[in-house]
Amino acid sequence: MTTNRGHVTIRRALFSDFDKIVEVEASSFKRPYPPTLLFSLLRLHGDMFYVALADDETVGYVVGAKRRDGSGHVISIAVRPEWRRRGIGTKLMEALLDDFKKRGLRKVVLEVAVSNREAIAFYEHLGFKTTALLKGYYPWGEDAYFMTKEL
Ligand SMILES: CC(C)(COP(=O)(O)OP(=O)(O)OC[C@H]1O[C@@H](n2cnc3c(N)ncnc32)[C@H](O)[C@@H]1OP(=O)(O)O)[C@@H](O)C(=O)NCCC(=O)NCCS
Repeated sequence: MTTNRGHVTIRRALFSDFDKIVEVEASSFKRPYPPTLLFSLLRLHGDMFYVALADDETVGYVVGAKRRDGSGHVISIAVRPEWRRRGIGTKLMEALLDDFKKRGLRKVVLEVAVSNREAIAFYEHLGFKTTALLKGYYPWGEDAYFMTKEL
């Protein structure tokens, strides 16, 4: 699926996007996923991996997966800092949620670090609700909120 809205294009990620996805990740997280993990996600979940292109630049990505219980899982989303607050994260998430719906999934879940106020505000804006606290979820010991949304 390819979606064109203004100058931002959302499309499925290709292996040729890999280096740019690594750059988006490095620019977005204090503790970025290692490139090997991003490559595995592209290989295993490429059908639910989307990138955002603006002026031919790769400015964001989102990757999801179907869970065993039949819900959709948002594994990761990031937009380059200089491209934030322009609706690109929303467009990426819309593409993924649309994909989940087309596969018949009725619920979507994610984890977010309790200190990540920006992401929590973003997910709340999209209609996610915090439904659980996951104590010590991250390898560095931080708790996560488990957030869910019905599709
Ligand atoms: C979370 C993230 C993907 C949002 O991307 P984005 O393109 O800036 O999001 P949008 O522009 O679509 O934001 C939509 C709405 O979410 C809310 N929101 C987004 N960022 C926010 C912030 N920093 N503070 C408060 N609200 C915010 C706002 O309601 C915003 O609408 P508005 O700009 O009209 O006020 C981006 O901040 C990011 O890459 N963060 C670093 C990586 C990360 O933490 N990912 C999540 C890991 S769980």
